[in-house]
Amino acid sequence: MSLNESSKIGVVGAGTMGTGIAQIAATFGHDVFLFDAYPDQLEASKNSLEKILNRQVEKGRLSAKEVQDILSRIQYQSHIKDFAKCEIVFEAIIENLRAKKDQLARIEAITSKTCILASNTSSLSIASISSGLKKPGRFLGIHFFNPAPVMKLVEVIPGISTDSEATVQARNLINSWNKTTVLAKDTPGFIVNRVARPFYGEALRIYEEEIADHATIDWAMKELGGFRMGPFELMDLIGHDVNYAVTESVFKAFYYDPRFKPSFTQKRLVEAGLLGKKSGIGFYDYRKGAKNTEPNRDEKLGTEILNRILAMLINEAADAVFMNIATVQDVDLAMKYGVNYPKGLLEWADEIGIETILNRLEKLQDEYGEDRYRPNPLIKKMAGNHQQFYS
Ligand SMILES: NC(=O)c1ccc[n+]([C@@H]2O[C@H](COP(=O)([O-])OP(=O)(O)OC[C@H]3O[C@@H](n4cnc5c(N)ncnc54)[C@H](O)[C@@H]3O)[C@@H](O)[C@H]2O)c1
Repeated sequence: MSLNESSKIGVVGAGTMGTGIAQIAATFGHDVFLFDAYPDQLEASKNSLEKILNRQVEKGRLSAKEVQDILSRIQYQSHIKDFAKCEIVFEAIIENLRAKKDQLARIEAITSKTCILASNTSSLSIASISSGLKKPGRFLGIHFFNPAPVMKLVEVIPGISTDSEATVQARNLINSWNKTTVLAKDTPGFIVNRVARPFYGEALRIYEEEIADHATIDWAMKELGGFRMGPFELMDLIGHDVNYAVTESVFKAFYYDPRFKPSFTQKRLVEAGLLGKKSGIGFYDYRKGAKNTEPNRDEKLGTEILNRILAMLINEAADAVFMNIATVQDVDLAMKYGVNYPKGLLEWADEIGIETILNRLEKLQDEYGEDRYRPNPLIKKMAGNHQQFYS
């Protein structure tokens, strides 16, 4: 049996991600059962989806009839009985291992033997969630990005017990939803949340050393690097509580590798409740009439900042390949479509030259004497052999 347009889809958790996944599935013609433990949340999900889709009608992207059809395919439910009819169920409840294991065990008990179960977890291991299942072979990670209907990337993460057939089927289904899927090993942060750490971490380090202020670092990354948002703007948007929690969880999961060390500056922002845009103040002041500092548009300084952060990002991307977390192509696709980087990091490395990247990393390691800056063995080897990632 293979998943197709007529496959019925279950979604657990009608929050931000669950609502988005339900929207995608219904848009592609599936009947969707969306379950949440909290009735208020079902109501809120329904209202928000109606609003989002009606805006699409106003913008001329969808007809009123199309929106009606999409909405009619989603059934909001306060029970999981109908999951018995589903061929795949996506779990998108709170990021809590106990809650996920309990809920998935209940779902496993009522679904058919062939029904695939998927978790949208960002930071828990697929192995740990699967340990509560009787048939972990049909369970895997399927990690959408926020907002799910907009972001093209989906990370597909088979766990240690996942059957290859379940991975192939789930991946084909997500590809049929016009998404770009990448395959990642079940390791902390998968691809995107691991490789992107230096975008924030190295920017914070430069800020803490007072090499430049936040506005200047953001300017350098956007104007000189072509990134859509600077690291500080992006952290303010994500929320420092959320961004810090991801950094801390990756740091712990990597047995306190200094490459992933969280920053005191960000910790203090969280402690003070200065969470960014949502609280009115983060690195920038978002309150009405507030004045924010202008960047220092010094090209030499800006280039130094960009080169340093980029070298650290490329080192991390190379590590994901070196440790066989994902292929060169998938690492690049992940960063382009999961966090909108202007170029794939490894493609960028080829353009700059692997030897230049190695020199930048060695200079940093030499200057600071910190393991954080150690060049990845793959970068060293490739530089020595004058190799490129794409050739
Ligand atoms: N928000 C993001 O940017 C993002 C991105 C990728 C992945 N994720 C992951 O997706 C998952 C959901 O995140 P979210 O941002 O949508 O959270 P959310 O808080 O918006 O939604 C979670 C929903 O789950 C419901 N819920 C909680 N416990 C439940 C239970 N036991 N049974 C059924 N429903 C339950 C809540 O009522 C809520 O509606 C998490 O695992 C998160 O790590 C989030």
